[in-house]
Amino acid sequence: MIIKENIHYVGKVDWELRSFHGEELSTFNGTSFNSYLVRDEKTVLIDTVWTPFTGELIKNIEKIIDIKDIDYIVSQHSEPDHSGALPHLMMKIPNTPIYCTKNGKMALKGHYHKDWDFREVKTGDTLKLGSKELTFIEAPMLHWPDTMMSYLSVDNVLFSNDVFGQHIASEFLYDDLVDAATLDYESLKYYVNIISPFSKKVVKKLKELEDMKLDISMICPAHGISWRQNIKKIIADYSHWASGVNQDKIVIIYDTMYNSTRKMAEAIAQGIKLVSPHTEIKIFRSSNTDKSDLLVEVFTAKGVLVGSPNINGSLLSSVSSILDEIKILNLSGKNAASFGSYGWSPVNIKTLNASLEEAGFEMVSDGLKIQWVPDNEALLQAVELGKEFASSF
Ligand code: FEO
Repeated sequence: MIIKENIHYVGKVDWELRSFHGEELSTFNGTSFNSYLVRDEKTVLIDTVWTPFTGELIKNIEKIIDIKDIDYIVSQHSEPDHSGALPHLMMKIPNTPIYCTKNGKMALKGHYHKDWDFREVKTGDTLKLGSKELTFIEAPMLHWPDTMMSYLSVDNVLFSNDVFGQHIASEFLYDDLVDAATLDYESLKYYVNIISPFSKKVVKKLKELEDMKLDISMICPAHGISWRQNIKKIIADYSHWASGVNQDKIVIIYDTMYNSTRKMAEAIAQGIKLVSPHTEIKIFRSSNTDKSDLLVEVFTAKGVLVGSPNINGSLLSSVSSILDEIKILNLSGKNAASFGSYGWSPVNIKTLNASLEEAGFEMVSDGLKIQWVPDNEALLQAVELGKEFASSF
């Protein structure tokens, strides 16, 4: 497949993948492992694919050139979904230089234990291909220390690796050819679950790219489709997401054993509605909701309430798990409160409050604990918590 004249797509579209990073991240729309072959007087391969698709990468390349005609390899990121084919490839072309960052060299050596011909590059270093050249742009912690991007002159293509990616399998290569809503959602989900811990670095990197005044006609990420029509939009989206999103939406997350905490969640929602009828309210049971999608809901909300009954002096495990993720992904800057039912010890509320505080949320209540099964009077207290919460903005 041709991206632009003399830029060939040689990666793998994986329609089957339903989870990424092991089982951590759901990928209900599949993904792709993008690898690009750029031909000029010299031929360069930019990134490879995940190990299971090595054979397909080699076949795709050999439809275009003899594998031995690859002059250079650029490894923008050493995570195995992009470097996994290197060992096999390097058995065929062992002397081919691999351009990567210092951290990239360290990680590739750590992964594959080979002394390949690594050529360390820094931001601003170039690789002449003939009439065109690649300029390298380090992007540490977006999302690994080794990550870099590469800008191809003349064609004005930015190869951005994980940044601006999405987990989408598509027969099409470009943003204007796929369903816009799916693309928007998957771009956001990717940002939230992979990039958001490093939002401060995103802000700096976007500024750096702006200052470089690159003329970008296409962004080719390492997952999903390439951006050719909505380049400004995806850059603006990243800028917006990196600054924190606080839509007029309140998310209530709970888990429950015998429905007491669920009843509280629904009563809280009633209270919010009474005070703020236009605020979107979403209620999720953490144990039966996809974690990656739930994190997107939290990311975009202005407020979050989390509830769990007490179990053995702690929380139900699905609630603990989502709280951990909220903290890890740095989804701070939102109002929060906790709730839950208990039998003989309300330790759960203390744990909930501590976790939400640790996540950097602004606690707007001490939380609501209700002993045993809530009666109407107790549920009125939950309605009041909802009212108090809605009034906190
Ligand atoms: Fe797509 Fe960080 O690898």
